Formats: sequence, C-alpha cells, structure tokens
Amino acid sequence: MNKSVLEFQNVWKTYKMGTEKVKALRGVNLTIKEGDFIAIMGPSGSGKSTLLHLAGILDIPTEGTVLMNGKNVKDYSGKEQAKQRRSNIGFIFQRFNLMPQLTAIENVMLPMISQDEKKAKMLLNKIGLKDKYKRFQKQLSGGEQQRVAIARALANDPSILLADEPTGELDTENTRLIMELLKNLNENDGLTIVAVTHNPLAAEYAKEVITMQDGNIKS
Ligand SMILES: Nc1ncnc2c1ncn2[C@@H]1O[C@H](COP(=O)(O)OP(=O)(O)OP(=O)(O)O)[C@@H](O)[C@H]1O
Ligand SMILES: [Mg+2]
Repeated sequence: MNKSVLEFQNVWKTYKMGTEKVKALRGVNLTIKEGDFIAIMGPSGSGKSTLLHLAGILDIPTEGTVLMNGKNVKDYSGKEQAKQRRSNIGFIFQRFNLMPQLTAIENVMLPMISQDEKKAKMLLNKIGLKDKYKRFQKQLSGGEQQRVAIARALANDPSILLADEPTGELDTENTRLIMELLKNLNENDGLTIVAVTHNPLAAEYAKEVITMQDGNIKS
C-alpha cells in the first residue's frame, strides 16, 4: 500500500472576525497517499481553499491533527514549516501566480535555493514552453502563464502539488491542456496532486473526486 503523504484527523478550522466565528472546516478526516490525484469539488464557501491551505502548511488547524509524512505539522518550528513549504510542497493558485517583472525562466528559478538554469529549462521544456524562456507574463497566454506556474511549483521537486482552481480563469482548450499536464505528471512522475476545481471537465482528469459541503467531506 502506498505511503500516506498527508493525513487530516478530525480537523477543525475556525476563523475569527471580531466577535464572529466562521467554522470553515468541521471535523475533516482525509488521507492522501503517494501517487494520488484528487480533485476537490463543492460549493463556494464549503472549505476547499481552507483545506488546501492546511495541507500546504499555510495555516494550522484550530483543532485536530494534520500529519505530513507522518509528522504533526504543529510540531514543526516556523523554520521547519518554511522548509517543508519550500522543498516538499508545490503550490499553484488560480491567478497572480507569476512575477510580472520576471521572465518565464526567471519565474521558474525564483524558489530555487541555487539558481539552476538547466533545470528550469528542463521544466519549461517539459510543460511545452521550450521557445518561450525569455517571455514576460504579459507576453504569454493565460494557459501558458499557468504552465509556467506549474513548472515553478516543481522547481524544488516537491512530493505533493496543491492547486487551487488552477484552471479557473482558462477556456476549455487551456483547461484540457493544464489538466492533461497534471495527469501526465501524476502518471509518469508519480507526483501526488490535490486540485480544487469548480469545473467537472477538469475534475474528470483526477483519479478520485471528493466533494465538500459545509466544511466537511460529503460521504
Ligand atoms: N481568512 C478568513 N477569515 C474569515 N473567514 C474566512 C477566511 N477565509 C475563509 N473564510 C470563510 O471560511 C469559509 C470557507 O472558505 P473557503 O475559502 O475555504 O471556501 P471555498 O470552498 O474555497 O470557496 P470558493 O469556492 O468560493 O473559493 C467561508 O465561509 C469563508 O467566508
Ligand atoms: Mg476557494
């Protein structure tokens, strides 16, 4: 059986806004194993992004436990958390992914500890942007920008890729291209992927679809 990369055990997340409390996650149990490709669907406000943020140690649970590679993320120091985020986790967001003042290749090298141009080129080739290393964000289509963002998320060989609406701003053709790319990374490189999406077409590419409702996974 495949090793578990992430485990959510009765995870609650409550946001406080003044006197108001929002229970964004309500007792989530979820295991993500090596090689999984999971799509998370569900209505707006159901807690999808919150779940992804906890998975990426961008936040910690109010109650319950998140284990990453068997270790409770609460036990990581701030420095260890940052190290995990940098080396173990790749993120892609819906937009605002790239630095507009950097070229494609500079964006890919951004998270690298030592600037490895060869590797950045290899990653850009892999996602089909061989001839566009030197392009700036505004010189790339939306789909191409998202592909650069994927290459950048892979810069430090993460064990898991977390994507929040990676095709949210894309047309059908580009949605297919991006999802096809993720599928290949999952199937050929064994990359573990969790992608939040509203789009049933995008979700079709995943091996498993889970649906959230009211802060929990719908069974
Ligand atoms: N930083 C925050 N402070 C207060 N409330 C928040 C915060 N972030 C999210 N929420 C609330 O928590 C709930 C879950 O939000 P979340 O962003 O996880 O939903 P989502 O499923 O990703 O929605 P969408 O599909 O619209 O992106 C919502 O009620 C939201 O308003
Ligand atoms: Mg969201």
